[in-house]
Amino acid sequence: MATTDHHLKDSSSSSPSSVVVVMVPLLAQSHLNHLLQLSHVVSSYNIPVHYVSSTLHNSQVKSRSINPLRELTKIHFHNFPLIRTTPLPPNLCSGIKLSETVKLLREPVAALLRSLSSNVKRLVVVHDVLMTSVVQDFVSLPNAEAYAVNCGSVFPMFTYAFAAIGQYDIIPIKNIPSVESCYTHEFYEFIKHEFKQMKSQVGQLHNSCKAIEGSFLEHVANYVLKGEKKIWAVGPLHQTTVFKEARDDDKCLLGWLDKQEPNSVLYISFGTTTTFSEEKIKEIALGLEQSGVKFMWVLRDEDRLDSFSNGYEGELSKLPSGFEERMRGKGMGMVVTKWVCQVEILGHKSIGGFMSHCGWNSCMESISMGVPIAAWPMEFDQPVNALLLTEVLKVGVAVMEWGQRDELVTSSMIDRAVRTLMASEEGGEIRKRAEELGAEVRKSTAEGGVTRMEWHSFIAHITR
Ligand code: UDX
Repeated sequence: MATTDHHLKDSSSSSPSSVVVVMVPLLAQSHLNHLLQLSHVVSSYNIPVHYVSSTLHNSQVKSRSINPLRELTKIHFHNFPLIRTTPLPPNLCSGIKLSETVKLLREPVAALLRSLSSNVKRLVVVHDVLMTSVVQDFVSLPNAEAYAVNCGSVFPMFTYAFAAIGQYDIIPIKNIPSVESCYTHEFYEFIKHEFKQMKSQVGQLHNSCKAIEGSFLEHVANYVLKGEKKIWAVGPLHQTTVFKEARDDDKCLLGWLDKQEPNSVLYISFGTTTTFSEEKIKEIALGLEQSGVKFMWVLRDEDRLDSFSNGYEGELSKLPSGFEERMRGKGMGMVVTKWVCQVEILGHKSIGGFMSHCGWNSCMESISMGVPIAAWPMEFDQPVNALLLTEVLKVGVAVMEWGQRDELVTSSMIDRAVRTLMASEEGGEIRKRAEELGAEVRKSTAEGGVTRMEWHSFIAHITR
């Protein structure tokens, strides 16, 4: 499925060169990509956009972007080296010192904001909620204002806010996963530190869509933010992107999908922050084989914070002996160890389900393509996202319950979830709901759609 942003340009009504936007993403792929996509939207209204990250992360997000390069050239990239005396922590999730790493950007970002602010009427700083401390010096610039971006869903924010004040009746799920069970202490402290400093922001931009989380957005705006901050739901942004010609690796995957029946293939991927042990990989492989369902499995390690490689080779060795060859030989499925074009794969007519860790971007992409999800959350916001999918929106099945998180997810649990999703009456109902919701979400970014109105509203606000 290909969509373009040409009509975005047609809809741009003003060219307020006196306003400049600076985007400051968190140093993690899905956050980098979300702010890059947002940059394209803002840039399509003829507003200059400056995108600021480390040299490594800018190069990573550009090379993985599904926007053609000519679109990227409209954005001014600022590459800052992360020079430290001690080595960077290797990954985002475990033993992380992300707070120390992002601190390195405060000074260069402040210098950039100062220099840009002297030439414009209004400097608009759009930053990840987890980069609040990096942009904090904007307050000393008289013509600067800031907006925080939540790259995740609204539902966890809604759930924890109302649970904190004991209003459980309003929360549509039972057994809310505790924060302690979802986040490491260190990561949670980092989140709290960044949120605490978010006082002077004019408003918030959420990577969500009113068609999915309308009522939760309303509750957050009215009761959590008490109507004091402006709030826009700007997702899904992947619908604004255009596919450049598929990479050779992707062509081969899409070619295989072309030969399969509609809705017959399960796509499996666990985003950019999950690494499986050999034991878990073996259970997945056995479960897939037992289910008899065709599959395309992206088997990669989590991204590292200190280096970037577009593909990770070597995981195949963790599979049961002969599994890959057997599956390929029978035409049952394939295991891919490289970065793939997930959005294009999910949009393929042969994809009938997605086994996912429930990272929010994967959820949004799957929902908008009308693809139901086998939810297998690992950490962070994922456990609450999984409940949003399975219990609230009812567009997915659970592979495991959060209470079982310390137990091994066995091949029979995987087999059961896959067959329920792909080959049962219950799965059929779930698919029907996913398709209906997907149609609503796809409409949202078209002219007159709920998300398109949010973009217009945000642009009208910053160019007021
Ligand atoms: C992280 C956190 O884990 C998650 O909890 C939070 O909601 C967002 O940040 P991540 O693991 O990166 O998420 O998952 P997700 O949000 O699903 O984003 C992954 C992105 O990478 C998706 O946009 C997906 O399309 C893309 N991707 C992944 C590819 O395009 N190709 C790949 O091979 C793998």
